[in-house]
Amino acid sequence: MKKPVVLFIDDQQSARDLFIRLLDPARYQPVVAPGVKAAEDYLRTGPADVVVTDLRMPDVDGLEGLERLHAIDADLPVVLITAFGTVETAVEAMKRGAFDYLRKPFDPGELEIVIDRALQHRQLLQENKHLRSQVARNSTSAAIVCDAPAMLPVIRLISRVAGSDASVLMLGESGTGKDVFAQQIRKLSHRAAAPFVSINCSAIPEHLLESELFGHEKGAFSGANTARDGFFAEADGGTLFLDEIGDMSLALQPKLLRVLQNGEYYRVGSRRLAKTDVRLVSASNQAMEDLVERGQFRRDLYYRINTVRIDLPPLRQRMEDLPKLAELFLAKARERDPGLPSRWSAAALQALMAYHWPGNVRELQHMVQRAALVTDGDVIQPEALPEALQHSPAAKGLHVAEDLPFKEAKKSFEHSYFSRLLDRSGHNVQRAADAAGLHRSTLYEKLAALGIATEGESS
Ligand SMILES: Nc1ncnc2c1ncn2[C@@H]1O[C@H](COP(=O)(O)OP(=O)(O)O)[C@@H](O)[C@H]1O
Ligand SMILES: [Mg+2]
Repeated sequence: MKKPVVLFIDDQQSARDLFIRLLDPARYQPVVAPGVKAAEDYLRTGPADVVVTDLRMPDVDGLEGLERLHAIDADLPVVLITAFGTVETAVEAMKRGAFDYLRKPFDPGELEIVIDRALQHRQLLQENKHLRSQVARNSTSAAIVCDAPAMLPVIRLISRVAGSDASVLMLGESGTGKDVFAQQIRKLSHRAAAPFVSINCSAIPEHLLESELFGHEKGAFSGANTARDGFFAEADGGTLFLDEIGDMSLALQPKLLRVLQNGEYYRVGSRRLAKTDVRLVSASNQAMEDLVERGQFRRDLYYRINTVRIDLPPLRQRMEDLPKLAELFLAKARERDPGLPSRWSAAALQALMAYHWPGNVRELQHMVQRAALVTDGDVIQPEALPEALQHSPAAKGLHVAEDLPFKEAKKSFEHSYFSRLLDRSGHNVQRAADAAGLHRSTLYEKLAALGIATEGESS
């Protein structure tokens, strides 16, 4: 295995020498730089897995250095070394994305612990990034947004199982993206070029579903004027997507179980065994376990379709993705109609953020399309959104989703509060500060921390 490269930045030669002596040469590859500029030059061409840097240096201080190093490699963990009296700055640096800080003097043991944690962190970041790019392959029309932390287990599972033939059961409320991710599984599998056949079990009348799935012989039932292949024949060699599988009748379930177990089935009206090779992906917005408990779904079939289970979280649990989704759907709408608006106002986006999205991503997509259509100018304002979003207590920032962790709920509240405060005071920061009873500088800090742009800057 290649040794991880630790880049150490310090303006003092003695400190650099000491660092090289402290670091176990069997485990790490040290590289030293006398300042941030030298480190930047190095990073543009050379490898580094973690940076350890002094906080106070003559050329560029650690805080600015942090920003500049992250501009070159955003995932590079940076550990700051602080002397007495600089701990506050180090804490500030962590808020701005430093990985950790070490207090001088430190011993080799402490150093290695921090470095190892930083390396682990980097590995995780890179792994996640890789998985996401795998799953979210970007052709605009098929762009998938899945950056929210709550999506990570989904992304991991999908990339892990896609290459196998394991049956995947996707559970999630309506509109959470079950179709989208089923297609992604197919795209990432070795059956990518083979057929993908999608059936919604609840959309096909019960008495027709069997012949739709398995096909039928001529004269098998009244109206069967010709013999026909079913979906299992069509999907042979490829992937079959059974949507709303919980709605399949108990009469049909044993037949599905048989074909899944040994690839054999009978066409309706035929005694000749037919063979097929399909990979099954199924989906349901119902709690399948409850259906099993109530005797509405066979337990053996449930186990068979549930080799891997993927739970798609509702949109309200991954609101970090909402702005990107809103952008994406707007961009898609503009592909069809370039005359539509191109941007969201901060206030409109805020109203979207405050809503609880019972219809999930699908509801968002429809709302974006509608808002774009009713907007005259280039920027979508809150008035283009349904009344419920404009006037709900949530949209006024008086209520925050209680299923968020406290830290996020607080942030969400603050974001909503300050956006509205700015709107109400005509984006005059002094007036907003007065109205909120805050110092102007405190308000500026709050806005910056929340990423709310003040007038003149773009949002
Ligand atoms: N993560 C996502 N990124 C981009 N678009 C999405 C995402 N999830 C869902 N969509 C879009 O939202 C709509 C609803 O998704 P769909 O997969 O049909 O939901 P479900 O099958 O769970 O009801 C579709 O138009 C889909 O393209
Ligand atoms: Mg669906």
